[in-house]
Amino acid sequence: MTTDGKVTTKNFGPVDFTSREDKLHLFRQRALADAVLLGHTSLERDNVRLGLPAELQEMRIKSGQTRSPLRVIVSNKGKIDNRLKIFQSDLSPIIIFSTKRMPRKNQKALQRKATLHLTDARHVDLAVMLETLRNQYKVRTLACEGGPTLFRALLEENLIDQLNLTIAPFMFGGATAPTLTGLGNKFLPASVHCSLIKMRTIENECFLTYRIKHQRGRRN
Ligand SMILES: NC(=O)c1ccc[n+]([C@@H]2O[C@H](COP(=O)([O-])OP(=O)(O)OC[C@H]3O[C@@H](n4cnc5c(N)ncnc54)[C@H](OP(=O)(O)O)[C@@H]3O)[C@@H](O)[C@H]2O)c1
Repeated sequence: MTTDGKVTTKNFGPVDFTSREDKLHLFRQRALADAVLLGHTSLERDNVRLGLPAELQEMRIKSGQTRSPLRVIVSNKGKIDNRLKIFQSDLSPIIIFSTKRMPRKNQKALQRKATLHLTDARHVDLAVMLETLRNQYKVRTLACEGGPTLFRALLEENLIDQLNLTIAPFMFGGATAPTLTGLGNKFLPASVHCSLIKMRTIENECFLTYRIKHQRGRRN
């Protein structure tokens, strides 16, 4: 995020305001995970494959892991375009958590590229999604790469253990550019406490790792 807390511009453009070092940092974190998770809007906007550079793929193979983490997409409406780049790459299996609101034509097109978990409910239950990833796919470490709407939803349900945050040397201003916890003007149901467990600076960027303290019942 920028020094004034923004994770994208008001146009929700793809994130390109951090250094090469930060991009490597992201890849290294991704390489540590059994699966990587992304919200539908970020997938559409950034059109990412969620892959890894060859060296990190080799490193995983040497340590007995699969070449690349599983790729997980979450969407309530399910209008996911099967022409996105992620569906043109077979680096690792793709798993989609959505609802039966997903239009038939999307279901048909996506079934060829991914495993679909569609609930009868109107919204995906994120805790159930994590249980499914753990029980059916043996996922122990899940790296969520945003965006802010999904991050906030996970935070509100107390489902995040760690936050890796890079502060980039820019300020955007503006009320319509989302912060880490999204655009809404509502407070979180309870303030979330973090403890700083690692900090590193490289040139003008600061790389922070926070442990999220799991506390219930604390009001803002
Ligand atoms: N700076 C950074 O590090 C960073 C990281 C990631 C993204 N971004 C930026 O963030 C922007 C997008 O963020 P965003 O907040 O608008 O979107 P987002 O969190 O990426 O995705 C939101 C969408 O994901 C699905 N979703 C979110 N929470 C869900 C839940 N609890 N259950 C089921 N589905 C859920 C919904 O999809 P449906 O609408 O399909 O139902 C929702 O509309 C992009 O501009 C991207 O570039 C920045």
